[in-house]
Amino acid sequence: MTIKVLGYSAQQAKAKLAPYHFDRRDPRVDDVVIEILYCGVCHSDLHHVYGDWKTHYPVVPGHEIIGRVTQVGNKVTKFKPGDLVGVGCMVDSCQHCEPCHHGLEQYCEEGSTLTYNSLDRHDHMPTFGGYSDSIVAAEKFVLKIPHNMDLKSAAPLLCAGITTWSPLKHWNVTKNSRVAVVGLGGLGHMAIKLAKGLGAEVTLFTRSKGKEQDAIRLGADHIVLSTDDKQMASVHNQFDLIIDTVPSIHDLNPYIPTLALNGTIVLVGYLGDLDPFLNTAPLVMGRKSIAGSLIGGIAETQQMLDFCAKHNITSDVEMIDIQYIDKAYERMLKSDVKYRFVIDMASLKKDK
Ligand SMILES: NC(=O)c1ccc[n+]([C@@H]2O[C@H](COP(=O)([O-])OP(=O)(O)OC[C@H]3O[C@@H](n4cnc5c(N)ncnc54)[C@H](OP(=O)(O)O)[C@@H]3O)[C@@H](O)[C@H]2O)c1
Ligand SMILES: [Zn+2]
Ligand SMILES: [Zn+2]
Repeated sequence: MTIKVLGYSAQQAKAKLAPYHFDRRDPRVDDVVIEILYCGVCHSDLHHVYGDWKTHYPVVPGHEIIGRVTQVGNKVTKFKPGDLVGVGCMVDSCQHCEPCHHGLEQYCEEGSTLTYNSLDRHDHMPTFGGYSDSIVAAEKFVLKIPHNMDLKSAAPLLCAGITTWSPLKHWNVTKNSRVAVVGLGGLGHMAIKLAKGLGAEVTLFTRSKGKEQDAIRLGADHIVLSTDDKQMASVHNQFDLIIDTVPSIHDLNPYIPTLALNGTIVLVGYLGDLDPFLNTAPLVMGRKSIAGSLIGGIAETQQMLDFCAKHNITSDVEMIDIQYIDKAYERMLKSDVKYRFVIDMASLKKDK
């Protein structure tokens, strides 16, 4: 017996997303079955559907999942039917390597099992994501959604939230830190809110004129138009940490001089070769670093959710029906998102 599921999939690279019927496994002893209520739309979903990355098709994207528990395996202790829960980018990992032991499942030496576009470690079936009406996941990878949180705007915390929280914590951002964020999209707007929540002074680098008011409302103290050389020069030697969320190839050279002594620019957006060549002089002259960071561990994700509940932080969302998803991707590519699309999964009923 398996669980019958309706979702939306792309059957090949660049194909339009369309209704897709598939099966999920019957719950194992440590599994939780979740009826999906909402799912955020991450730019990574778009990379997979558009064929930017190594993807196996059909792909059912979606890794910002909020839902309600409907069933639990008989060894599950953390959850019961009716609980409101989240699933992020991972659904499993080896559980015995060094990173797994340290709660860094995203860096599992054997490779974590991603919520979609992976193979389950036990039955080797492909994993399918949250653009669907239900999901089955091991309880260890299921998050508790704090009671007072708005569910729709909590969904993006499961990827955009944790991906920006993890570097903020790793690089010890506190009240005295000066943080900059490159790009005001899904990740960028969460980076601003979370850095502000940690007490930092926050600057936004954007190439889009017209986002200034929103950036200030979201918590930014300063806005720098990255296409304006004068504005860029005015912030040299300032930032302890820059979180760069730009999803495509771009020039890092203009940002390095804006780092303070010992400052770090963390790439969370683009994966691939940089262009043009990087000038190492400003790195060497100021003991500056370029780093990367991948989502966050499960315990860390729960800490981020609890922090957000305490500080009243969620995402700014635009709710959409699943049938709007192709259009949403087109708008995302034009930076026309304020600031995360979230799919109301009740809209799947139209395809039933
Ligand atoms: N490391 C991880 O674990 C992780 C996790 C999730 C997502 N990601 C990746 O992070 C990236 C961002 O995701 P997202 O969901 O935040 O995307 P998004 O909502 O589309 O936001 C990206 C923002 O970057 C800026 N931007 C876009 N294209 C640009 C370009 N060519 N040059 C300069 N700036 C540009 C835009 O902001 P402005 O208009 O303000 O310039 C845009 O709003 C994606 O590549 C995604 O795959 C990584
Ligand atoms: Zn994501
Ligand atoms: Zn591991």
